[in-house]
Amino acid sequence: MHAAKAAEKRQPMSKSELGGIIVLDFGGQYTQLIARRIREQQVFSAILPCTASILEIRAYQPVGIVLSGSPCSVYDPAAPICDPGVLSLGVPVLGICYGLQWISHTLGGKVERAERREYGPAEVDLRDGSALFAGLPRRLKIWMSHGDHVRALPPGFQVTGVTSSGLSAAEDPARRIFAVQFHPEVRHTERGSEILRNFVFSVCGARPNWSGASFISETVEAIRKQVGRGRAICALSGGVDSAVAAALVHQAIGNRLVNIFVDTGLLRKDEFQNTLDLLENRVGLRVVGINAANRFLARLQGVTDPEVKRKRVGAEFIEVFAEQARQLGEIRFLVQGTLYPDVIESVPVRGPSATIKTHHNVGGLPADLPFELIEPLRELFKDEVRRIGRELGLPEEILTKQPFPGPGLAVRLLGEVVPERLQTLREADAIVVEEIRLAGLYEKTWQAFAVLLPVRSVGVMGDERSYGDTVAVRVVTSEDAMTADWARLPCDALERISARIVNEVAGVNRVVYDISSKPPSTIEWE
Ligand code: XMP
Repeated sequence: MHAAKAAEKRQPMSKSELGGIIVLDFGGQYTQLIARRIREQQVFSAILPCTASILEIRAYQPVGIVLSGSPCSVYDPAAPICDPGVLSLGVPVLGICYGLQWISHTLGGKVERAERREYGPAEVDLRDGSALFAGLPRRLKIWMSHGDHVRALPPGFQVTGVTSSGLSAAEDPARRIFAVQFHPEVRHTERGSEILRNFVFSVCGARPNWSGASFISETVEAIRKQVGRGRAICALSGGVDSAVAAALVHQAIGNRLVNIFVDTGLLRKDEFQNTLDLLENRVGLRVVGINAANRFLARLQGVTDPEVKRKRVGAEFIEVFAEQARQLGEIRFLVQGTLYPDVIESVPVRGPSATIKTHHNVGGLPADLPFELIEPLRELFKDEVRRIGRELGLPEEILTKQPFPGPGLAVRLLGEVVPERLQTLREADAIVVEEIRLAGLYEKTWQAFAVLLPVRSVGVMGDERSYGDTVAVRVVTSEDAMTADWARLPCDALERISARIVNEVAGVNRVVYDISSKPPSTIEWE
């Protein structure tokens, strides 16, 4: 999709991305965390696939390289490898887990296949004298997750740490190559951030100059250069990412950015009008609001299959957007709020950790539209996007908004999407969100919403028998939506939600609470 295209051409977008640390991804589960921990030290860090060329790496003018972990063994026939030239770029290298094994294997050491994986907590004894462990106690609790071990180090290397099961850290100070078997980037490793800090500052000599303010000023400058006197268009979803992307580009080129915000009729209660007001009047964006609810409803008529719903909503969205774009005349650029995890998760060319999610975001347009992409948030994590948004002065209502799927309420209304049932779902959903806010839980939970089930059941209201609809309440906690757990809500919050839905939403006589985690369930029901 569009993200893949962007990733192939990947190069630094602005000066703020130069002089940082490049993390080469061998597919490790913690690769993103490594980059994040480095950025927490105000040093820019980008992840590139292990297959990146030396030229691509050099384009970032890195002051250091980190080689990530991997689920593979260096002996697997399909073991991920990188260009051995990364070990002689003239900048320090830190291998983590598989990174250590790959370095040892590549430089003439001996790696042995383990009988079974070592996973979980362990303790390491550190030797004196390593710049990586300066200022740390000599014994640390660490987190392991590996199969193979290094049995013999390559020439020039010395052991700098051991655990009860063997070598755990090593380095070649002359070549400035460092390696650890454990994971300093996870919280379970005591003082792990300090190990990374030692690498970044003492070993690599990085400067802590990556901040929200420098990111904004340099990105705005880069966008001005890219766009020149041209015009750009952006599809707003109502969520944080597209709003922050649009605000950044607006700062660069003002009203030469036109934003399209489509009312699909599948948004939450009052969401279209409220968001339009905020973005137009409070943020000052130039927004064209389009009421296309009838078109979407017509396209969904008779459809009950979830995948078909998603595809129809996506296709209709592209049509509406393309029509608007044509009406606006010559526009060369398209702004997208693509984030780092989107790029990482959806693009195989970025290295092995790229697999899992193929969401058709309604805001995500296909690559063959005739635009050049501007993706100013491509290197950021969600929390960083919020920080940037805050510095840009975006309203908290937008910055703290919980994620909402592109196909909207269509995938929360099981069965055919018809106006009356949409109305029922919208009212029930508004109650869930309001009560979660009142309980002070909106910002502590990842998502809180209602689902309308295609199930009716018997109830009694007053003296009358009823036969009404069922609403499922879904409230989850999560870090990144890849995994999620159902929120342990206080019983009185659940009670209020249930009582209000049954009393205030016509036709509903039963409320159930979804207690499934992801996996094996998903967050959305369709
Ligand atoms: P699931 O249901 O797969 O959802 O556990 C994971 C996260 O993704 C959101 N989601 C979507 N977001 N377009 C989006 O932009 C979509 O089509 C879509 N489907 C699910 C979901 O709300 C959750 O946060």
